Amino acid sequence: MSIGDRIFAMCYDRFMARTEKAGLRERRTALLGKARGDVLEIGAGTGANLALYPATITSLTLTEPDVAMMRKLEKRLGDRDVTALRAPAEDLPFDDDTFDTVVSTLTLCTVEDQPRALREIHRVLRAPGQLLFIEHVRAEDAKLARKQDRMNGINRIVAHGCNCNRPTLDGARSAGFIIGHVEHGSLEKAPSFVRPLVVGFAEVA
Ligand SMILES: C[S@@+](CC[C@H](N)C(=O)[O-])C[C@H]1O[C@@H](n2cnc3c(N)ncnc32)[C@H](O)[C@@H]1O
Repeated sequence: MSIGDRIFAMCYDRFMARTEKAGLRERRTALLGKARGDVLEIGAGTGANLALYPATITSLTLTEPDVAMMRKLEKRLGDRDVTALRAPAEDLPFDDDTFDTVVSTLTLCTVEDQPRALREIHRVLRAPGQLLFIEHVRAEDAKLARKQDRMNGINRIVAHGCNCNRPTLDGARSAGFIIGHVEHGSLEKAPSFVRPLVVGFAEVA
């Protein structure tokens, strides 16, 4: 575990506080209300979604590869009936067709190999499974997309491996998902090149 990993985990909730207040928390709450059945969350981080899952879900499994984040997550879990495992989204330690819902919030920007992570998510979902997502993505506006390409190197350093220029919805389609509802919004209080946001669900037929 590097010093950078520790600092990022330690500061993450404080760093996100203004964005959460400016609408992200509300978006999380609305989206997670759609979770059903056996639920897997990838890159669960400090557990920002934990309190927002409906009591009606059957089970909740969280994965997180980063040791420092995992420590924060475990503290937040307390004695909740939740399974938490260290694993990257590119290599999920689950059988095919295990979950009804997979949740990714601000994680598909950071996974090392997004196509592989999306194929893994698709594999572990059982039809008619759903991927619920809140992700900041490549801008549709060409000028802003060029800025994202210019800023991506520095963004990866400052934001601990986060890519600001990924066309994540195209990636989901390529992995075999059918995009359901998508709302285009803004990650408020973030730099302009990190703001383009997609919120919605994609389905496994
Ligand atoms: C920006 S944080 C988002 C945390 C949380 N999902 C949230 O909504 O606040 C990105 C998270 O992705 C995790 N991550 C990094 N690489 C990953 C990978 N290969 N697979 C899954 N998660 C990964 C990071 O450790 C971090 O917890």
